[in-house]
Amino acid sequence: MGQGESRVKSDFVHDVFAQIAGRYDVMNSVLSFNQHKIWRRFAMRKMRLKTGEHCLDVGTGTGDWAIAMAQTVGARGQVTGIDFCQEMLDVAEPKLNRFHVAGFTNLLLGNAMALPFEDHSFDVATIGFALRNVPDVAQVLKEMTRVVKPGGKVVSLELSKPDFGPFRALYYFYFYRILPLIGRAAVGKDEPYRWLPESLRTFPDRHKLARMFEEAGLERVEDYPLTFGICALHIGYKPKA
Ligand SMILES: C[S@@+](CC[C@H](N)C(=O)[O-])C[C@H]1O[C@@H](n2cnc3c(N)ncnc32)[C@H](O)[C@@H]1O
Repeated sequence: MGQGESRVKSDFVHDVFAQIAGRYDVMNSVLSFNQHKIWRRFAMRKMRLKTGEHCLDVGTGTGDWAIAMAQTVGARGQVTGIDFCQEMLDVAEPKLNRFHVAGFTNLLLGNAMALPFEDHSFDVATIGFALRNVPDVAQVLKEMTRVVKPGGKVVSLELSKPDFGPFRALYYFYFYRILPLIGRAAVGKDEPYRWLPESLRTFPDRHKLARMFEEAGLERVEDYPLTFGICALHIGYKPKA
């Protein structure tokens, strides 16, 4: 993707999330039949975070993953959530107090394509349902790898493409035909929930994404299909020096 196209995609994605920020959490639960909560819990289990660790959540949006990590690492740890859409961060902000993690969780406006952190700053960098939305997946994985410490983890939880043909056909009927209609009825606009299925079309499948983790310099890459492959969790480790 050239610089011009990349800019167009970024601006478009930014506007989509600015429009739906207030309804994002509810719509997530409705459209995934609450599955996203199960996927998030599975990711947290597999990450095996420890008390006191420093975490970065890229494309943090309304902050659910950042909050879950903060609750696990506790006040001796530190969590930073970064997102380029202020409207999404405005929804996240009051939740930090509600979940008693405000003292050790920061929210920052910034772009996943050029993370404003020193090399080797975090024990873990996560990205939840945001990798599909960036203009250059490889560049974001490279940036996440750069900012984690040697031995640290890069983790992605993202929608994916089911492997099993008959199930895939059924799921795609829901995802490409029904979901945009529900989205339009709920938010009164066409664009945001037409973009959601569209963003999956060109996104790498689970196997390709695992290879991209390796190409970013990560090793021992684990990938897990969730709910028949509708979603996938990837975890890669930055080599120890
Ligand atoms: C589908 S939401 C996911 C939010 C949250 N991570 C979650 O798990 O619910 C995608 C988020 O990624 C953000 N985003 C997309 N592209 C970005 C970029 N290039 N830099 C930073 N944030 C980005 C959007 O603003 C949005 O908040």
